Amino acid sequence: MPDTAPVIQITDLHKSFGQLEVLKGVDITAHRGDVVSLIGSSGSGKSTILRCANLLEDSQQGDIVFKGEPVHWKGSGPSRRPGDAKQVLRIRTNLSMVFQQFNLWAHMTILQNVMEAPVTVLGRDKAEVEEAARKYLAKVGIGDKCDAWPAQLSGGQQQRAAIARALCMEPEALLFDEPTSALDPELEQEVVKVIKDLAAEGRTMIIVTHDMKLAADVSDHVVFLHQGRIEEEGPPDALFGAPKSDRLRGFLSATQTA
Ligand SMILES: Nc1ncnc2c1ncn2[C@@H]1O[C@H](COP(=O)(O)OP(=O)(O)O)[C@@H](O)[C@H]1O
Ligand SMILES: [Mg+2]
Repeated sequence: MPDTAPVIQITDLHKSFGQLEVLKGVDITAHRGDVVSLIGSSGSGKSTILRCANLLEDSQQGDIVFKGEPVHWKGSGPSRRPGDAKQVLRIRTNLSMVFQQFNLWAHMTILQNVMEAPVTVLGRDKAEVEEAARKYLAKVGIGDKCDAWPAQLSGGQQQRAAIARALCMEPEALLFDEPTSALDPELEQEVVKVIKDLAAEGRTMIIVTHDMKLAADVSDHVVFLHQGRIEEEGPPDALFGAPKSDRLRGFLSATQTA
């Protein structure tokens, strides 16, 4: 039933870049309101999972199901592609991505950046979108920056604008790819606060992060990846408090001393 179906359910996902297999059978499920964090060393496949989930990348095997609706593929293996362009658009716009490098348009004001996709991609009414955009910019604490250019904002403010932009799509879930990695520590915290507020209001989120404290604080479920496989997963208390695998123990002690 679509209402109880997970927002996103990924089963046995395999992804190769040419001969390099980077995802070797990964399962990820996020129900409505879940916060799932993906942790693991650089190159373990975290970003690739997010990009496959919202169909920015093709995958060669496995299922991706959005609210009970399986992605329709055409072809198989290396030639597998999503077969339904409307479905791709629906899924992509409902799994809104926040990137490490913000990716704001330099030639648009902050307000224009937030309004752009809802107006041009979703075809929504401009006045309604503007009202929503102002609301989301206020929500992330930069309601006074509507008319500023991205270059006039700090990194933390730019990332909060990028979060407002993702929210303005009214998506089913937010996908964060290392949202705080490009920020100085003091600016990192203002973005962490916004992410915690979103988690507290029951947003469905998948968060790739190197910030173990953030993962421990906001997650319902944490997934530790190693070389394209899930090495260990579970609730944050178990994963951080009583890691079972040597690899996870090694990873955690390395990140704590970093
Ligand atoms: N576009 C690409 N072409 C070829 N290899 C890629 C591409 N994107 C990622 N990879 C490789 O896939 C692996 C997983 O990358 P990625 O998902 O970015 O890891 P993570 O986000 O965990 O650091 C790495 O070995 C990386 O070099
Ligand atoms: Mg990455």
